[in-house]
Amino acid sequence: MITDQYSARAKKVQRSELAALFKLTENPELISFSGGFPDPDWYLDEVKAVTEKIINERKGIALSYGPTPGVTDLREYLAERLGRQGIKTRGADILITSGSLQGLDIVCRMFLDPGDRVIVEAPTYLGAISTLENFEAELVQVPIDDQGMRTELLAETLESMKKEGRMPKLIYTIPNFQNPSGCTMSLARRHYLIKIAAQYGVLVVEDNAYGELRFTGEQLPLLKALDEDGMVIHLGTFSKVFSPGLRLGWFAASSVLVEKAILFKQGCDQCSNTLGQLIALEYGRQGLIDKQIEVSTKALIVKKEATLAALEKYFPAGSTWTLPEGGFYTWATVAGHTDTVKALNIAVEKYKVAYVAGPSFYTDHVSGANKLRLCFSQPKVDQIAVGIKRLAQVLQE
Ligand SMILES: Cc1ncc(COP(=O)(O)O)c(C=O)c1O
Repeated sequence: MITDQYSARAKKVQRSELAALFKLTENPELISFSGGFPDPDWYLDEVKAVTEKIINERKGIALSYGPTPGVTDLREYLAERLGRQGIKTRGADILITSGSLQGLDIVCRMFLDPGDRVIVEAPTYLGAISTLENFEAELVQVPIDDQGMRTELLAETLESMKKEGRMPKLIYTIPNFQNPSGCTMSLARRHYLIKIAAQYGVLVVEDNAYGELRFTGEQLPLLKALDEDGMVIHLGTFSKVFSPGLRLGWFAASSVLVEKAILFKQGCDQCSNTLGQLIALEYGRQGLIDKQIEVSTKALIVKKEATLAALEKYFPAGSTWTLPEGGFYTWATVAGHTDTVKALNIAVEKYKVAYVAGPSFYTDHVSGANKLRLCFSQPKVDQIAVGIKRLAQVLQE
């Protein structure tokens, strides 16, 4: 059989439960707390005029290949935008990627040989797990709590790996409104993480997909903003603040790393969507990204409040959940002996409500069976209580 000829890597890759679930979620009756999608209502109407302007004025450039590192003006725009967030960088030190997940894919190509160790949070973003698994990394999870990654445990892990003589190549972290937990890394832990990463010489990959969607509290410095030794690669994306359909993100790091990354980008897809880059640039320059962030954040606050209130009202007594200060998610721990993986089929098929089961966010794919991620960005406000009530019925069944 031709499938016998799969690479060793392909033989290891498992069927994605999530892909199967996404198919079921196409049912319009279903209330979905699953995919981390922006609500389509947040896309501003101005995008029509922006797109028309680009086609009218720059059709030849917009529909053609662009430079591999990205449209120069967009890189400059991002440097200025990141500057406002405390990251001192230049357009030349930013690579435009086809979504931030491609940024991670490129990091893996640059640093990982099969079997290399990577530290990730427990739980962590399932897309990152799957990218890292594609590169046959040995994933080591460090638990989080409501202050983000438990950096004292990270220090212990690094020390024991050092003694063993097998250091990790990367530490992957989502410091702001983490996926799936919604938790944010405290300032003290940010400083400590940067300190020990430099001390042990391990590169940090900071994934900041949600950082600009803050509901309350002070903006904390990004890890890249605290990085004086060039030990942080910062990954960002337009997916949550503008449009995931554009497939545009960025990779900001020291010049030497960006130069190497460009070589891999060339072999991946030559360049990212040129029309999309010009749209993102114009949308950004007209202040529309900031306006959309304002619209999204306002709506997210209402949806978050509705979700937490419904959890309080309907979820089994003794269950707990996180209180996100921003982003799309809350992470619930269900009281009793619930198996959220088994419950998911019943939830989707019988009760028409979807979520993502806990084990999807653990590298062993079995931990967290009593946990689930609720994404509150997509359901309409008036569907939230209905959806959570249905979910509580599933869990009691
Ligand atoms: C933490 C995190 N990183 C990256 C991504 C992927 O973003 P992109 O669409 O830019 O590939 C997501 C999407 O859900 C995410 O939650």
